[in-house]
Amino acid sequence: MRVDYTELGQRIRAVAEGETDEVALMATLACEIHHSDERFDWTGFYRVVAPELLKIGPYQGGHGCLTIPFDKGVCGAAARTGETQLVPDVDAFPGHIACASSTRSEIVLPVWNGSGELIAVLDIDSDQPDAFDAQDAEALADILKAVFG
Ligand code: SME
Repeated sequence: MRVDYTELGQRIRAVAEGETDEVALMATLACEIHHSDERFDWTGFYRVVAPELLKIGPYQGGHGCLTIPFDKGVCGAAARTGETQLVPDVDAFPGHIACASSTRSEIVLPVWNGSGELIAVLDIDSDQPDAFDAQDAEALADILKAVFG
């Protein structure tokens, strides 16, 4: 089934209401987002832990690599540029980091706090080619802004 972003956003806002702990919020979003759509085979956060360095945060799915510098991978590109990365074919993305050989497409969004600082990226992998579109990018960005912004 394909996610109903209106319903997902309402559910996340209700569950996250009043919570300020970033790890608790990331764990909740990883769970709710991951289970909302069969396209999502890995869903998780990489946190900014030092200048130019990401470390894995809460996630759902198989083993994810622990550390990603800003100059590596799709996650590094999202962190470095501050732009959402919509990748229809991971094999065509220079420097893609394959945590699972089954991954075919990916979306990675920057996560900003209320002060406009980059605190993490949200990474969703799919075993389906070209699984993500502009609607996913816009709806997920809205949810991230509502929770972390
Ligand atoms: N594919 C990501 C790495 C994270 S694993 O997919 C969970 C990247 O290229 O940055």
